[in-house]
Amino acid sequence: MAIPERFLDELISRNDIVDVISEYVALTKRSGSNLFGLCPFHSEKTPSFSVAPDKQIYHCFGCGKGGGVINFIMDIENLPFRDAVAFLARRVGMEMPEDDVPSQVRSYRARLLELNRDAARYFYENLSKPEGAAAVDYINKRGISAAMVKKFGLGAAPDVWNGLTGAMLDKGYSAGELVDAGLARRRKGSGIYDTFRNRLIFPVIDVRGSVIGFSGRILGDGEPKYLNSPDTPVFIKSKNLFALNLAKKSKRGMLILVEGNVDVVSLHQAGFDCAVASLGTSLTAEQARLMSRYTQNVVISYDSDSAGVKAAQRAIGLLEKTGVNVRVLRMEGAKDPDEFIKKNGPDAFSILLDRSENHIEYKLLVVKSKYDLDTDDGKIGFLKEATELLASIPNAVEREIYGRRVAELSGVSVEAIKSETAKAGRRISIARKKERERQNLRPDMTLQPASRELRYDNPASAAAEEGVVRLLMIDNSLLSETAGLAPEDFTSPFLGKIFEMVRERTAAGEDATASSIAAQLTSDEASQFTALMQRPASASNAIQALRDYIDKIKTEQLKSKAGDNLLAVRERLREKKGFGG
Ligand code: UTP
Ligand code: MN
Repeated sequence: MAIPERFLDELISRNDIVDVISEYVALTKRSGSNLFGLCPFHSEKTPSFSVAPDKQIYHCFGCGKGGGVINFIMDIENLPFRDAVAFLARRVGMEMPEDDVPSQVRSYRARLLELNRDAARYFYENLSKPEGAAAVDYINKRGISAAMVKKFGLGAAPDVWNGLTGAMLDKGYSAGELVDAGLARRRKGSGIYDTFRNRLIFPVIDVRGSVIGFSGRILGDGEPKYLNSPDTPVFIKSKNLFALNLAKKSKRGMLILVEGNVDVVSLHQAGFDCAVASLGTSLTAEQARLMSRYTQNVVISYDSDSAGVKAAQRAIGLLEKTGVNVRVLRMEGAKDPDEFIKKNGPDAFSILLDRSENHIEYKLLVVKSKYDLDTDDGKIGFLKEATELLASIPNAVEREIYGRRVAELSGVSVEAIKSETAKAGRRISIARKKERERQNLRPDMTLQPASRELRYDNPASAAAEEGVVRLLMIDNSLLSETAGLAPEDFTSPFLGKIFEMVRERTAAGEDATASSIAAQLTSDEASQFTALMQRPASASNAIQALRDYIDKIKTEQLKSKAGDNLLAVRERLREKKGFGG
């Protein structure tokens, strides 16, 4: 049902945009009648996010996001229109116009949600009471920080039969409501008792911020390890994800899907604030769709045991159907992300995240786009490159899966692809051996892992060159600012080549998008290029940044050509002109 215009008008006038945005963004600067702050939608160091109180709109000059107060809530809370309206209505105490759900049902659901919220508060408050001491011990034992306890609203169910039920009955909730919410169970005779006893409580909060259910972990060993709320009128496990309410606000541009609640908490604590888990079920199609509403990129980081690998295979299929890019993060020496981070630290996890592959699918498509598979020559070229790609996959199962994919794409038999891949593998190992000899390594020493980080001759210049490339990819029109720069000025041939490609495409009147560039590169170069593109580039002050980069490239050039003397002169000159240090 459409929401009446009159209702929306009132909603907008009651939710002043400055008040609403101030709840998320510190609007610290004023320029004319506009207020400025750091954009919540992209990373930046200088404020380019503006709010116009007179027009009741916002606009970011960096990332281009903008609109009215409803758009802002849609963007920042990641809500569809209707939910954003409901969110703002609740904020100012307006009642949403009736829709097709009967009002009795609606108010009963609202009542259960209220009960859940009160229950979550009760569990949380127990942590500072003697009844919660065991759970606090357990929290400490698992190394969960106070900040995470608060962020997730963790709590304690005491070791009694009528802890929560007693407290909620006192508050005026009925036994029936407690049972319907899954918080209490009926005794054989009469009366009710607590569902969750002597457990660490993880509230499940949906994307609108409602507490819809709970998950309780036993404090130590025992069965069942987790107890979850049953499905209730407000909680359908298969349609929700643990921590999506938090992860949807992450700026990492991805969601990390893990198996365990504790893994989620651990990842958030380590700074990976985009982790979510399915709620004790294997991933469902609905959960996959839900994730795809919030991100284009999902990294699956399931347990490293065989059950986890199998579950990941299933999840890949479900997620790919929704159109998101799926990658799989593989861990060794730890059973799950929680253990991995405890052992090796966040940086090590970050490296795994960067390396996580299933880019393979992506790379295959890039390879495919280079050849016309309707011709024999095209097929042969494609197969050669595709089997080289396959041969570079260390994991046999994955090699098998993608081998089948190549067969599908090319119409060549799986057997033929297997034998070509084996040949390519031998070619690669011979090349590696030669490379090892060239580097004078002993046979038992391995080469540097095929790191996707580029190694540069002049890292200082290359950093600026990367900056130029990244800015140009955000906005091709910035090319007009690079008149003084030639591909030969680049110390990295790879980056120089990309710069030249951008120039050529633009001169030919074509867009130089990242995907069009990637399609012209070899698969190795393409993966280096996409890795480069994944690092954030801030578009605020792009022109100035570009000039600084070019200046840096030229300075480095002078340095290497003429030694430091000339540089000193140049730096003195810059100081005189007033835009030096
Ligand atoms: P895990 O056993 O891997 O739990 O189950 P975990 O969260 O990693 O816990 P720790 O680190 O061993 O303490 C993964 C998820 O499966 C569901 C829970 O959602 C759990 O987080 N599960 C597990 C259940 O629903 N019931 C169970 O008995 C066990
Ligand atoms: Mn686990």
